[in-house]
Amino acid sequence: MSSISKRQFLKSLVGTATLSTWAGLDETLAKVAHLPAATLVQKESFWSDIRAAYPVTKEFIQLENGYYSLAAQPVMDSYLKHIQQVNSVSSYYMRTRQFADKRESQTQLAKLLGCSTDELIITRNTTESLDTVIGGLKWKAGDEAIMAQQDYGAMQDMFKLQARRHGIVNKTLSLPNHPKSDAEIVSLYEKAITPKTRLLMVCHMVNITGQILPIRQITEMAHKHGVEVLVDGAHAFAQLNFSIGDLGGCDYYASSLHKWLGTPLGAGILYVRKDKIADLWPLFADSSVPDDDIRKLNHTGTHPVATDLAIQDAIKFHTGIGIERKEARLRYLQHYWTDQVRHHSKIILNTPEAPARSCAIANVGIAGKTPTELAKILFDKYKIFTVAIDSPPVQGYALHPMSTRP
Ligand SMILES: Cc1ncc(COP(=O)(O)O)c(C=O)c1O
Repeated sequence: MSSISKRQFLKSLVGTATLSTWAGLDETLAKVAHLPAATLVQKESFWSDIRAAYPVTKEFIQLENGYYSLAAQPVMDSYLKHIQQVNSVSSYYMRTRQFADKRESQTQLAKLLGCSTDELIITRNTTESLDTVIGGLKWKAGDEAIMAQQDYGAMQDMFKLQARRHGIVNKTLSLPNHPKSDAEIVSLYEKAITPKTRLLMVCHMVNITGQILPIRQITEMAHKHGVEVLVDGAHAFAQLNFSIGDLGGCDYYASSLHKWLGTPLGAGILYVRKDKIADLWPLFADSSVPDDDIRKLNHTGTHPVATDLAIQDAIKFHTGIGIERKEARLRYLQHYWTDQVRHHSKIILNTPEAPARSCAIANVGIAGKTPTELAKILFDKYKIFTVAIDSPPVQGYALHPMSTRP
């Protein structure tokens, strides 16, 4: 790995300038148009221009960018314009242009995910998307659902709610932090399947460790047993270069756009495979839409439509850089620091070493200190904000460094 100086690396964590325009972005991109991802990955001048488009706080070093990642300045500028325009025409917009505009955002998102516009809706976030499926399935008492201890808590809670309401049985397995192979993970899920299993929920990327799971193999295995697959793609969409066709025909896929696509807060997607739509109950009723039309799942009432519009701006910024280059840079930056500390006797990395098994997010612990103690020291003494993860088998900090945001 060619080295950047410690100063350059730290500078890359905090950012430098605070403003950038669409024209500035076009100029920056034009200069590197001929460069493939592998060459661009270490071109610091390019990435520092991109970083300058993010209005990052100078108050502290933000190393938790997976929860909600700030939008780039050109996206914010366009978003503010959308808010003003919608506000000035108010209900007229809501009754007329709103629908075509939203459809356009949906179409652009579907193109990014590689599915049909009729298989995708815009939601507020991953939680709403996953809960629409978990709460919308026609569960019978005794049906079983499979998930992992490392899955997001709110979704595990939603399954617990279905257990109380419908008498379903939830089976929770635990993922190894350092799997030896894809087969090891697939076999863990397969062992949990019984003739009563109805649904398997799996993270595309585990948020607390950054581990990427072999979704295609898990889906193909589950389908052989007649089990549906719901993928929590909160951190994979717009961070990893994939399309839905690479995931083995998974039945449902959910993500948030305010994470790695960099939209303003409150945007997500839900993909439902065409043949699965008719069987889902919507959580909000809309009798004007047929049962096999995905729009039946999308009647959430009046909501901040300017966010839906800003999705198109975030896509423009994202595709301008290019997902292949973005993923390569994110992975490079994570490995830049993890490769240097991985074999240190006092450092525990809870993120797998193989490049294909992680990207931007990594989790690190330090022997002799609890994650909470260390998070406090890092913030109080060094003004570095991290999130402490202290739920065995993962103890450390999930780091989603700003440096890893293009
Ligand atoms: C794996 C995973 N799933 C779901 C969510 C929920 O995302 P949101 O709060 O945007 O709905 C998160 C949030 O960080 C997450 O990490």
